[in-house]
Amino acid sequence: MIMMDRLLVISLALLGSGCNAFSSGKMQSQRQTSEIAMLSEKADSRRSFLSEVATTLAFVGSLNVVMPPEAALAVSGANKVNAKLRAYGLDPITVPDGFSTLLEIWGKGKNKSRFPLLVNFAYPLTWIVTLPSNDVNGEDGTIQAGEYAKGDTATLYVNLDAGGVDDVTKAPKELFETTLQRAIGQKGNNMFQNFKITKLEPAPYNSGKQNYMIADFKYQLLTGAGFEVDRKGVASITSAGPAVEVLWSASTAIRYKKTESQLRQIVASFRCYADGLNLSDEMLMYDEA
Ligand SMILES: *[C@@H]1O[C@H](CO)[C@@H](O)[C@H](O)[C@H]1NC(C)=O
Ligand SMILES: *[C@@H]1O[C@H](CO)[C@@H](O)[C@H](O)[C@H]1NC(C)=O
Repeated sequence: MIMMDRLLVISLALLGSGCNAFSSGKMQSQRQTSEIAMLSEKADSRRSFLSEVATTLAFVGSLNVVMPPEAALAVSGANKVNAKLRAYGLDPITVPDGFSTLLEIWGKGKNKSRFPLLVNFAYPLTWIVTLPSNDVNGEDGTIQAGEYAKGDTATLYVNLDAGGVDDVTKAPKELFETTLQRAIGQKGNNMFQNFKITKLEPAPYNSGKQNYMIADFKYQLLTGAGFEVDRKGVASITSAGPAVEVLWSASTAIRYKKTESQLRQIVASFRCYADGLNLSDEMLMYDEA
């Protein structure tokens, strides 16, 4: 029974057919909902394997899932991503062992409040990627990777209201507090409390032309079933174009001892670019999709 479920998960996931955004040619659009995160939280707090399987199945069933590539494919995925980055004159990404990487454009659709942003980060091979859904009304959702059944996620959030900031490492703490809280509550129905930034550490990049700030943080997620789940995470915050961008990665506080180094590697790999790139080829490709 359990074996069957596992096989079903895998075969459903394979229907999703893609690898990375750029290696699969046509974009895979998925809808990501915070209900999934909520379900995951519940599964985690009950620590019941069956509910975890049910959550995974509900998740896989409700999404057009892109299965992360196998290890052998990941190399070519990383090669393709790096070829693309080099073509833009950008730094290649170093993909840690056991990780894959994605290069994706946020803001490729017809949503006028968005602007094109090239986003690159590495994520664990076993994680599943969801991308913004794109239809005639525009583009919603965001770029996310996660091991959803365990509640481990890495999510992009673009704080358009913050506008562009010259050097985030010189920004006041409030900018990081506001941006991160908006990021965690991105979908509106993610209720949480007791948010706190516990550490801020500048991560200079590109000779200071586009610095990043690493923030450690914690909060309590309030699940639909009335649980409070302590969560801990780490985020990388920068400003490219007329916004402040964050890739934040978190897990339950219980799992954090185990996940911390992984989550730190994810956010440390985060790069996003808005200026001086000619994305017209990619934009055309997406418009046809
Ligand atoms: C367009 O993007 C904005 C900013 O990310 C988002 O808040 C909004 O929901 C999106 N609109 C649509 C129609 O998807
Ligand atoms: C961007 O690239 C496209 C196709 O490669 C080219 O036609 C266009 O002229 C370029 N635009 C700029 C501003 O360089």
